Amino acid sequence: MGPVSADLAAPSARRTFLAAALRRPGRIGAVYPSSPHLAGVLASVVPSQGTPTVVELGPGTGSVSAVIAGRLPAGSRHLAVELDPSMAAFLRRTRPGLEVVAGDAKELTTLLADRAAHRVDAVISGLPWSLFDEGGQREILGQVGVAIGAEGAFTTFAYTHTLPMRGARSFRRLLGDRFDEVLISRTVWRNVPPAYIYVCRRPKG
Ligand SMILES: C[S@@+](CC[C@H](N)C(=O)[O-])C[C@H]1O[C@@H](n2cnc3c(N)ncnc32)[C@H](O)[C@@H]1O
Repeated sequence: MGPVSADLAAPSARRTFLAAALRRPGRIGAVYPSSPHLAGVLASVVPSQGTPTVVELGPGTGSVSAVIAGRLPAGSRHLAVELDPSMAAFLRRTRPGLEVVAGDAKELTTLLADRAAHRVDAVISGLPWSLFDEGGQREILGQVGVAIGAEGAFTTFAYTHTLPMRGARSFRRLLGDRFDEVLISRTVWRNVPPAYIYVCRRPKG
């Protein structure tokens, strides 16, 4: 899989993202796609050797997908589970190397089994966790844990300004309940708004 420029589809990506965000704010949870700086930290767990399988949740218009694709060696698999039909259609048009799965991250186990993706090296999430209730968060995190197993890694991000909020604190606790290792990055200031990343490994049984 060759490198894909993050700016390849930038103006139409921004238009598609903004249109979806205005149409369904309760699903998208952001007005701007992630910056290449944030994407770089999220994608840092993607193996750059071998033929890994990587799964993205909530890829939107592909700002993080582009950076992941740039790291992946030839012969790798890169699946992207996107709930919003307009985003999924946009990804199919603009990212030919991506296996776009129009579906719900809450069905992750089934979606992966249907595509014979049995061993996943990394899951990278752009999901708007604050828009899910705790049951929904648990459901997805449990399936992410099954997907990555003992060897894989999971990254996701949150906006820095939400840190003191109750929802952000309870999500952080939930990550600690579900994963043996949870690392938190420095703030990525070059993103709108600034954000930080969780890197999680070794799901608890
Ligand atoms: C905050 S945007 C992030 C987009 C992109 N990853 C980025 O960082 O620019 C959240 C994305 O998650 C998608 N999404 C929301 N709920 C989802 C679900 N249950 N399953 C899959 N995708 C979902 C939205 O449609 C949207 O594309």
